[in-house]
Amino acid sequence: MTSTKSTVLITGASGAIGGALAKAYAAPGRYIILQGRDRGRLDKLGEDCQALGAQVACVVLDLTDIAQLQQWLQALTGQNLPDLVIANAGININNGQQRQGESWHDINTLIDLNIKSTLALVNGLVPAMRQRGSGQIALISSLAAYYGLPVTPSYCASKAAIKAYGEAMRGWLAQDGIKVNVVMPGYVESDMSANMPGPKPFVWTAERAASTIVKGLQQNRGRISFPFPLNAGTWLLSALPASWSQQLLAWFNYHG
Ligand SMILES: NC(=O)c1ccc[n+]([C@@H]2O[C@H](COP(=O)([O-])OP(=O)(O)OC[C@H]3O[C@@H](n4cnc5c(N)ncnc54)[C@H](OP(=O)(O)O)[C@@H]3O)[C@@H](O)[C@H]2O)c1
Repeated sequence: MTSTKSTVLITGASGAIGGALAKAYAAPGRYIILQGRDRGRLDKLGEDCQALGAQVACVVLDLTDIAQLQQWLQALTGQNLPDLVIANAGININNGQQRQGESWHDINTLIDLNIKSTLALVNGLVPAMRQRGSGQIALISSLAAYYGLPVTPSYCASKAAIKAYGEAMRGWLAQDGIKVNVVMPGYVESDMSANMPGPKPFVWTAERAASTIVKGLQQNRGRISFPFPLNAGTWLLSALPASWSQQLLAWFNYHG
């Protein structure tokens, strides 16, 4: 699979979707920057991408350390400003098996990564992209952004924030030659989704998700959401009166 981008930065590359995206973009003539925290998984992925012909740099970084993130971005914009940035790193938390609720510590960590580090990443790269007059930024949100699921309140809130931010940035940056795309996957096989309670209909492999994301980014679609039945269903939840949506979620065993 190829695209016209030459330098691609993927955060959360050591995970399922990030790793599949890295391999989808790995090709001769492409420089791929892989970020994660797990050095072993990043290095293994880097070898796979090199075998596919790409040049690779692996960056081990905890993105919730915003000062370190900003320092790294400053160095990056001076050396090799990416053409395509995929802000993919994220975590999920839930109310727990006993319905005990989310701890403040976990909520804080989730907000630091899913929202603050994502906005800091974009904020650190946009000025240089505007100056250059080109760039593409893909923000990995979720279908969970359409309507809050009782089992994962903070996760849904964080992904709704990313959806709104991406839509706003797309409008703002269009006239600067910068494309912004919001990606809203349904259930995709990964450690994260395996640890999530509740029904997981229409689950996709990470490779299938990556292939759909790459195509959507090539077409510069504002919203890349899949799979179709879950996309339609969750969108409908956001459009219906809230009392109907909550009743529908309970019928489908999503009452948490
Ligand atoms: N899987 C799904 O069903 C699904 C559905 C909708 C949206 N999404 C979104 O897709 C994205 C990728 O999810 P995934 O399913 O591929 O999950 P995953 O396999 O668990 O991967 C998560 C990635 O995030 C990285 N990460 C976690 N905490 C980090 C931190 N503090 N600093 C830097 N990196 C950190 C992990 O790095 P290390 O492992 O190296 O720590 C890993 O690379 C997430 O934003 C998720 O919300 C997933």
